[in-house]
Amino acid sequence: MPVGTAAIEAVELCAGYDRQPVVKDLNLSVAPGEIVALLGPNGAGKTTTLLTLAGELPSIGGQTRLFGERASGPLHRRARRGLALITEERSVFMGMSVRDNLRIGGGSVEGALEIFPELTDHLGRKAGLLSGGQQQMLTLGRALSRRPRVLLADELSLGLAPVIVDRLLDQVSGAAKDGLAVLLVEQHVSAVLGVADRGYVLVHGRVQLEGTSAELSADGRLEQAYLASAS
Ligand SMILES: Nc1ncnc2c1ncn2[C@@H]1O[C@H](COP(=O)(O)OP(=O)(O)OP(=O)(O)O)[C@@H](O)[C@H]1O
Ligand SMILES: [Mg+2]
Repeated sequence: MPVGTAAIEAVELCAGYDRQPVVKDLNLSVAPGEIVALLGPNGAGKTTTLLTLAGELPSIGGQTRLFGERASGPLHRRARRGLALITEERSVFMGMSVRDNLRIGGGSVEGALEIFPELTDHLGRKAGLLSGGQQQMLTLGRALSRRPRVLLADELSLGLAPVIVDRLLDQVSGAAKDGLAVLLVEQHVSAVLGVADRGYVLVHGRVQLEGTSAELSADGRLEQAYLASAS
Protein backbone atom coordinates (compact mmCIF):
# COMPACT_ATOMS: atom_id res chain seq x y z
CA MET A 1 0.00 0.00 0.00
CA PRO A 2 1.57 3.32 -1.00
CA VAL A 3 2.26 5.78 1.82
CA GLY A 4 -0.67 8.10 2.29
CA THR A 5 -3.29 5.73 0.88
CA ALA A 6 -6.60 6.26 2.61
CA ALA A 7 -8.17 3.33 4.42
CA ILE A 8 -11.55 4.42 3.13
CA GLU A 9 -12.38 7.14 0.68
CA ALA A 10 -15.44 8.59 -0.99
CA VAL A 11 -14.70 10.03 -4.42
CA GLU A 12 -17.44 12.23 -5.91
CA LEU A 13 -19.88 9.90 -4.20
CA CYS A 14 -23.59 10.43 -4.84
CA ALA A 15 -25.98 8.53 -2.61
CA GLY A 16 -29.69 8.42 -2.03
CA TYR A 17 -32.88 6.50 -2.57
CA ASP A 18 -34.71 5.46 -5.74
CA ARG A 19 -31.90 7.08 -7.73
CA GLN A 20 -32.69 10.46 -6.16
CA PRO A 21 -29.44 11.75 -4.63
CA VAL A 22 -29.54 13.16 -1.12
CA VAL A 23 -25.74 13.20 -0.84
CA LYS A 24 -23.96 14.85 -3.74
CA ASP A 25 -20.37 14.74 -4.99
CA LEU A 26 -18.97 13.79 -1.62
CA ASN A 27 -15.22 13.60 -1.21
CA LEU A 28 -13.89 12.38 2.10
CA SER A 29 -11.14 10.14 3.35
CA VAL A 30 -9.98 8.45 6.51
CA ALA A 31 -6.39 7.32 6.91
CA PRO A 32 -5.32 4.27 8.93
CA GLY A 33 -5.15 5.28 12.58
CA GLU A 34 -7.28 8.35 12.06
CA ILE A 35 -10.63 9.22 13.67
CA VAL A 36 -12.81 11.41 11.49
CA ALA A 37 -16.17 12.89 12.55
CA LEU A 38 -19.05 13.21 10.12
CA LEU A 39 -21.26 15.94 11.53
CA GLY A 40 -24.34 17.82 10.44
CA PRO A 41 -27.97 18.50 11.27
CA ASN A 42 -30.83 16.00 11.08
CA GLY A 43 -31.52 14.90 7.54
CA ALA A 44 -28.14 16.10 6.22
CA GLY A 45 -27.31 12.69 4.79
CA LYS A 46 -24.90 11.26 7.37
CA THR A 47 -26.58 7.86 7.72
CA THR A 48 -27.08 7.65 3.96
CA THR A 49 -23.34 8.28 3.53
CA LEU A 50 -22.30 5.58 6.00
CA LEU A 51 -24.68 3.01 4.55
CA THR A 52 -23.42 3.71 1.05
CA LEU A 53 -19.75 3.51 2.07
CA ALA A 54 -20.56 0.19 3.74
CA GLY A 55 -22.35 -1.26 0.71
CA GLU A 56 -25.74 -1.41 2.42
CA LEU A 57 -27.13 1.09 -0.08
CA PRO A 58 -26.16 1.18 -3.76
CA SER A 59 -24.33 4.35 -4.78
CA ILE A 60 -25.85 6.57 -7.45
CA GLY A 61 -22.52 7.90 -8.69
CA GLY A 62 -18.87 8.18 -7.81
CA GLN A 63 -16.88 5.62 -5.89
CA THR A 64 -16.02 4.19 -2.52
CA ARG A 65 -12.41 3.06 -2.21
CA LEU A 66 -10.97 0.74 0.40
CA PHE A 67 -7.18 0.91 0.75
CA GLY A 68 -6.93 2.46 -2.68
CA GLU A 69 -9.09 -0.06 -4.50
CA ARG A 70 -12.64 0.43 -5.61
CA ALA A 71 -15.11 -1.22 -3.24
CA SER A 72 -18.10 -2.94 -4.70
CA GLY A 73 -20.77 -5.33 -3.57
CA PRO A 74 -22.61 -5.65 -0.30
CA LEU A 75 -21.34 -5.22 3.24
CA HIS A 76 -20.33 -8.87 3.76
CA ARG A 77 -17.90 -8.55 0.83
CA ARG A 78 -16.47 -5.30 2.16
CA ALA A 79 -16.28 -6.88 5.63
CA ARG A 80 -13.83 -9.42 4.22
CA ARG A 81 -11.61 -6.45 3.33
CA GLY A 82 -11.72 -5.24 6.93
CA LEU A 83 -14.80 -3.01 7.02
CA ALA A 84 -17.10 -2.93 10.05
CA LEU A 85 -20.37 -1.03 10.33
CA ILE A 86 -22.27 -0.15 13.50
CA THR A 87 -25.72 1.16 12.71
CA GLU A 88 -28.12 3.08 14.91
CA GLU A 89 -30.09 -0.08 15.57
CA ARG A 90 -27.72 -1.82 17.94
CA SER A 91 -28.07 -5.21 16.26
CA VAL A 92 -28.23 -6.95 19.60
CA PHE A 93 -30.16 -10.22 19.61
CA MET A 94 -32.28 -9.55 22.67
CA GLY A 95 -33.36 -13.14 23.34
CA MET A 96 -29.84 -14.55 23.12
CA SER A 97 -27.19 -14.56 25.83
CA VAL A 98 -24.46 -11.95 25.86
CA ARG A 99 -21.93 -14.73 25.21
CA ASP A 100 -23.75 -15.91 22.08
CA ASN A 101 -24.19 -12.33 20.90
CA LEU A 102 -20.44 -11.80 21.16
CA ARG A 103 -19.74 -14.95 19.13
CA ILE A 104 -21.99 -14.03 16.24
CA GLY A 105 -20.39 -13.21 12.91
CA GLY A 106 -16.86 -14.06 13.89
CA GLY A 107 -16.69 -11.99 17.05
CA SER A 108 -14.47 -13.20 19.88
CA VAL A 109 -15.78 -13.40 23.45
CA GLU A 110 -12.27 -13.05 24.92
CA GLY A 111 -11.42 -10.15 22.62
CA ALA A 112 -14.61 -8.29 23.49
CA LEU A 113 -14.09 -8.83 27.23
CA GLU A 114 -10.58 -7.43 26.97
CA ILE A 115 -12.12 -4.28 25.56
CA PHE A 116 -15.14 -4.15 27.89
CA PRO A 117 -14.44 -6.22 31.04
CA GLU A 118 -17.68 -4.88 32.51
CA LEU A 119 -19.55 -7.42 30.34
CA THR A 120 -17.88 -10.36 32.12
CA ASP A 121 -20.52 -10.69 34.82
CA HIS A 122 -23.33 -10.63 32.26
CA LEU A 123 -22.17 -13.33 29.82
CA GLY A 124 -24.97 -15.75 30.70
CA ARG A 125 -27.76 -13.16 30.74
CA LYS A 126 -30.09 -12.42 27.88
CA ALA A 127 -28.78 -9.37 26.03
CA GLY A 128 -32.25 -7.82 26.21
CA LEU A 129 -31.80 -7.47 29.97
CA LEU A 130 -28.69 -5.29 29.61
CA SER A 131 -28.84 -1.52 29.97
CA GLY A 132 -28.56 0.59 26.82
CA GLY A 133 -24.94 1.37 27.63
CA GLN A 134 -24.07 -2.29 28.18
CA GLN A 135 -25.79 -3.22 24.90
CA GLN A 136 -23.68 -0.67 23.10
CA MET A 137 -20.53 -2.04 24.76
CA LEU A 138 -21.59 -5.44 23.46
CA THR A 139 -22.06 -4.05 19.95
CA LEU A 140 -18.78 -2.14 19.89
CA GLY A 141 -16.85 -4.87 21.70
CA ARG A 142 -18.06 -7.47 19.21
CA ALA A 143 -17.18 -5.25 16.24
CA LEU A 144 -13.68 -4.44 17.56
CA SER A 145 -13.01 -8.06 18.54
CA ARG A 146 -13.11 -8.96 14.84
CA ARG A 147 -10.07 -6.69 14.40
CA PRO A 148 -11.50 -4.60 11.53
CA ARG A 149 -9.30 -2.14 9.67
CA VAL A 150 -12.08 0.39 9.08
CA LEU A 151 -14.97 1.16 11.44
CA LEU A 152 -18.01 3.15 10.38
CA ALA A 153 -20.25 3.97 13.35
CA ASP A 154 -23.59 5.75 13.33
CA GLU A 155 -24.67 7.43 16.57
CA LEU A 156 -22.66 5.20 18.85
CA SER A 157 -23.73 7.30 21.81
CA LEU A 158 -27.43 7.69 21.07
CA GLY A 159 -29.39 8.04 24.30
CA LEU A 160 -26.43 7.14 26.53
CA ALA A 161 -25.05 8.92 29.61
CA PRO A 162 -21.92 11.05 29.07
CA VAL A 163 -19.79 8.72 31.19
CA ILE A 164 -20.71 5.79 28.93
CA VAL A 165 -20.14 7.88 25.80
CA ASP A 166 -16.63 8.68 27.05
CA ARG A 167 -15.99 5.00 27.78
CA LEU A 168 -17.05 3.97 24.26
CA LEU A 169 -15.08 6.75 22.58
CA ASP A 170 -12.00 5.86 24.68
CA GLN A 171 -12.05 2.35 23.30
CA VAL A 172 -12.48 3.66 19.76
CA SER A 173 -9.46 5.89 20.34
CA GLY A 174 -7.45 2.94 21.61
CA ALA A 175 -8.28 0.93 18.50
CA ALA A 176 -7.33 3.90 16.29
CA LYS A 177 -3.92 4.04 18.01
CA ASP A 178 -3.49 0.46 16.80
CA GLY A 179 -4.20 1.54 13.22
CA LEU A 180 -7.99 1.35 12.88
CA ALA A 181 -9.50 3.99 10.57
CA VAL A 182 -12.72 5.35 12.11
CA LEU A 183 -15.54 7.41 10.66
CA LEU A 184 -17.92 8.50 13.42
CA VAL A 185 -21.36 10.02 12.94
CA GLU A 186 -22.31 11.67 16.21
CA GLN A 187 -24.81 14.10 17.64
CA HIS A 188 -22.56 14.74 20.66
CA VAL A 189 -20.44 17.21 18.72
CA SER A 190 -18.11 18.28 21.51
CA ALA A 191 -17.54 14.69 22.70
CA VAL A 192 -16.69 13.47 19.22
CA LEU A 193 -14.45 16.43 18.40
CA GLY A 194 -12.63 15.62 21.65
CA VAL A 195 -11.45 12.31 20.16
CA ALA A 196 -11.51 12.96 16.40
CA ASP A 197 -8.54 14.23 14.42
CA ARG A 198 -10.64 15.89 11.75
CA GLY A 199 -14.22 16.34 10.73
CA TYR A 200 -16.60 17.08 7.89
CA VAL A 201 -19.88 18.96 8.31
CA LEU A 202 -22.59 17.86 5.94
CA VAL A 203 -25.56 20.15 5.21
CA HIS A 204 -28.24 19.17 2.72
CA GLY A 205 -26.01 16.42 1.39
CA ARG A 206 -22.96 18.54 0.73
CA VAL A 207 -19.79 19.17 2.73
CA GLN A 208 -20.14 22.70 4.02
CA LEU A 209 -17.15 22.75 6.36
CA GLU A 210 -14.14 20.58 6.97
CA GLY A 211 -11.07 20.86 9.12
CA THR A 212 -9.20 19.58 12.10
CA SER A 213 -11.18 19.14 15.30
CA ALA A 214 -9.50 22.23 16.74
CA GLU A 215 -10.44 24.28 13.68
CA LEU A 216 -14.04 23.09 13.71
CA SER A 217 -14.42 23.61 17.46
CA ALA A 218 -13.30 27.21 17.09
CA ASP A 219 -15.41 27.90 13.99
CA GLY A 220 -18.74 29.61 14.66
CA ARG A 221 -20.00 28.28 11.34
CA LEU A 222 -20.28 24.81 12.88
CA GLU A 223 -23.11 25.90 15.18
CA GLN A 224 -24.58 27.98 12.36
CA ALA A 225 -24.76 24.88 10.16
CA TYR A 226 -26.96 23.20 12.77
CA LEU A 227 -29.08 26.29 13.52
CA ALA A 228 -29.67 27.27 9.91
CA SER A 229 -31.04 23.90 8.99
CA ALA A 230 -33.34 23.80 12.05
CA SER A 231 -35.04 27.08 11.10
N1 LIG B 1 -35.24 4.94 3.25
C1 LIG B 1 -35.33 6.20 2.78
N2 LIG B 1 -36.05 6.47 1.67
C2 LIG B 1 -36.15 7.72 1.16
N3 LIG B 1 -35.53 8.79 1.70
C3 LIG B 1 -34.80 8.59 2.81
C4 LIG B 1 -34.65 7.29 3.41
N4 LIG B 1 -33.86 7.39 4.49
C5 LIG B 1 -33.52 8.70 4.58
N5 LIG B 1 -34.07 9.42 3.57
C6 LIG B 1 -33.92 10.85 3.32
O1 LIG B 1 -32.56 11.14 3.03
C7 LIG B 1 -32.16 12.37 3.65
C8 LIG B 1 -30.93 12.11 4.50
O2 LIG B 1 -31.30 11.23 5.56
P1 LIG B 1 -30.22 10.62 6.55
O3 LIG B 1 -30.91 9.61 7.37
O4 LIG B 1 -29.03 10.19 5.77
O5 LIG B 1 -29.82 11.89 7.44
P2 LIG B 1 -28.94 12.00 8.75
O6 LIG B 1 -27.94 13.08 8.50
O7 LIG B 1 -28.43 10.68 9.14
O8 LIG B 1 -30.00 12.55 9.82
P3 LIG B 1 -30.14 12.26 11.39
O9 LIG B 1 -29.17 13.16 12.07
O10 LIG B 1 -31.55 12.65 11.67
O11 LIG B 1 -29.89 10.81 11.62
C9 LIG B 1 -33.36 12.88 4.43
O12 LIG B 1 -33.98 13.86 3.65
C10 LIG B 1 -34.22 11.66 4.59
O13 LIG B 1 -35.58 12.02 4.61
MG1 LIG C 1 -28.76 9.44 10.77
